[in-house]
Amino acid sequence: MSKLWNTSLTTGVPLMDEQHKALIARIETFDSLCATGQTHRALDELLPQLKDYVQYHFSAEEELMQRLAHDYAQLEEHMAMHQRFFTRIVEMETQREDWGDLQAAMRIRTYLHDWLVQHIAGTDQALARQLLGQHAVRPH
Ligand SMILES: [Fe+2]
Repeated sequence: MSKLWNTSLTTGVPLMDEQHKALIARIETFDSLCATGQTHRALDELLPQLKDYVQYHFSAEEELMQRLAHDYAQLEEHMAMHQRFFTRIVEMETQREDWGDLQAAMRIRTYLHDWLVQHIAGTDQALARQLLGQHAVRPH
């Protein structure tokens, strides 16, 4: 049972919900590796997988946003948020040498939790409401 997932994260858009859950499952694996002292594995094995999935998910979400073609400002803003998130993760990875594994894993973990939960509960919920309101996607 997922600890991070809660109903405020459910958007009603099947593709988004499914991918958000998959993303959260990866974050939870990252967490449990850290909690069992396997920070090296979390950073070397899990983080690359998580980054791949994040990229896959962001492109899928951006593709959905194209259906709201008239709303370019929102699209660009949302894409910029995705980009900033990814850049920050990569930056933190490069700081791993200075910080050490434990510190790096903890900082990345906190950032993943805070950003994703806030982003899904705020920005993605707003996007989902628009998509559903304009019948651009089918709800659950
Ligand atoms: Fe998003």
